[in-house]
Amino acid sequence: MSLVDNADYEVFRRKVLALTGIDLGLYKSQQMQRRIGSLMERVGVSTFAAYGDLLGRDRAELDRFCDYITINVSEFFRNPEKFDELEREILPELLARSRNLNIWSAGCSNGAEIYSVAMILQEIAPRGYHRLLGTDIDTGILSKALAGVYGPQDVRNVSAARMAKYFKADGESYVLSPEIRSKVQFKMHNLLSDPFERGFDLIICRNVVIYFTDEAKQDLYGKFWESLKDDGVLFIGGTETILNAKDIGFAPMASFFYKKVPVRKEVGVG
Ligand SMILES: C[S@@+](CC[C@H](N)C(=O)[O-])C[C@H]1O[C@@H](n2cnc3c(N)ncnc32)[C@H](O)[C@@H]1O
Repeated sequence: MSLVDNADYEVFRRKVLALTGIDLGLYKSQQMQRRIGSLMERVGVSTFAAYGDLLGRDRAELDRFCDYITINVSEFFRNPEKFDELEREILPELLARSRNLNIWSAGCSNGAEIYSVAMILQEIAPRGYHRLLGTDIDTGILSKALAGVYGPQDVRNVSAARMAKYFKADGESYVLSPEIRSKVQFKMHNLLSDPFERGFDLIICRNVVIYFTDEAKQDLYGKFWESLKDDGVLFIGGTETILNAKDIGFAPMASFFYKKVPVRKEVGVG
């Protein structure tokens, strides 16, 4: 990218921030510019300035833009072996400390991830008063999460027993039972700018940070640390690592699961 392009992109970044509240500066610039470039090609504009103008006057294009940059792919029990580990080891350990769990799926997309946890808890700890929260920046996908209607691809890792118990087929779709739906609360939340709640036993944030800058990721993991209870667990995506986990105050448990170490070390203080 040339300097001229970068200046153009910076103006575009400020425009998008004003229009949507999304700060593209916290996402990896080259990947984001490539993704936006393919959207621009689709509508036949060649500069960020022209595309910014278009987003300012065309609501439908602005919605398409938001959908595209946030990429909502998800499915039930994504990486099934990790969900097995969650069911057999992580949740029982958390339940041994507290009968009622407070769990947050951050960047929950269509809700498949947090609903998967709801099914597991229904089976292993049905009497607990658990609080399950799903948040996402994209309000369109949150409406889909609330509706609880899924396609065959979304449910391909769900066992036959769970399909029979928790879903009803409706033509090509699968409708999630009201019982499981009622266990989860959804709300809009931008991980890069909104305040974080505290007191979680488990935070799940998978396949969300791929386009965040390293600084934004570090900052986010620090905030998750603050949001977890002592010995609470952070569950991240199968292609992700927390680089300086120890400095933040996380101890690796199993791959992709980190436990909060209660006393945070001050980085750089001797
Ligand atoms: C690929 S999906 C991951 C869904 C689910 N966690 C999973 O692994 O199956 C990424 C989600 O992150 C959301 N997202 C992207 N940037 C975000 C931000 N700044 N704050 C909150 N959610 C964000 C997107 O809208 C999208 O729904």
